Amino acid sequence: EEMKYFSNELLKWYDQNARILPWREHPSAYRVWISEVMLQQTRVNAVKPYFERFMKECSTIQDLAHISEDKLLKLWEGLGYYNRAKNLKRAAQIIEEKFGGRLPSDRKCLQSLPGIGPYTAGAISSIAFGHKVPAVDGNVLRVMSRVLANKEDITCTAVKKEIEKIIYKILPEKRAGDFNQALMELGAVICVPNGAPKCTACPLSPICQGYQQGIEEKLPIKAKK
Ligand code: ADE
Repeated sequence: EEMKYFSNELLKWYDQNARILPWREHPSAYRVWISEVMLQQTRVNAVKPYFERFMKECSTIQDLAHISEDKLLKLWEGLGYYNRAKNLKRAAQIIEEKFGGRLPSDRKCLQSLPGIGPYTAGAISSIAFGHKVPAVDGNVLRVMSRVLANKEDITCTAVKKEIEKIIYKILPEKRAGDFNQALMELGAVICVPNGAPKCTACPLSPICQGYQQGIEEKLPIKAKK
């Protein structure tokens, strides 16, 4: 029914519209990890050249675990939030010591590493390992609050959890990583945060409650800081 429609239409749209991004080519766990950490606070277009250079200069977890502070700083310079880079190196050392030099595939294991929260763990586990787990970032929250016409405050942890649960139910067994990336992509290019969302080009508009009710631009609700 609607659940099937949701994932079928979304994946069909993604197959035709996914941007070609460097980390989507051979998405090894290492590449997915580094790209998702860079994308935590930096836009896709700004990340691209940093990602390419990082992969050239530091192409394995082992390189990263042993990188000099100097080189790390240079590779990260301009991306900001330098703590992200420090956490990457610390995590690489832990991966060498505790996980035999390979990123774990399990979401909870991934979350035990510095700099990896629920979103990044879900992204790595689903995109690199194909596990059926949600990866809910700001884009995904916006899309879902509109599709569901959910008027609750999305900054609230309980609301995030509820949306994660709903996504878990819709996630396709075979293409969980693509499904998660498709939701992010939809949020980035169609279901945009500022200005009118491009509902006439959206594969989900036929089942979007926000759109049906004409309240898409009022969603999501965020409590004032
Ligand atoms: N933003 C965060 N992760 C992303 C991804 N995998 N693709 C596109 N945008 C993203």
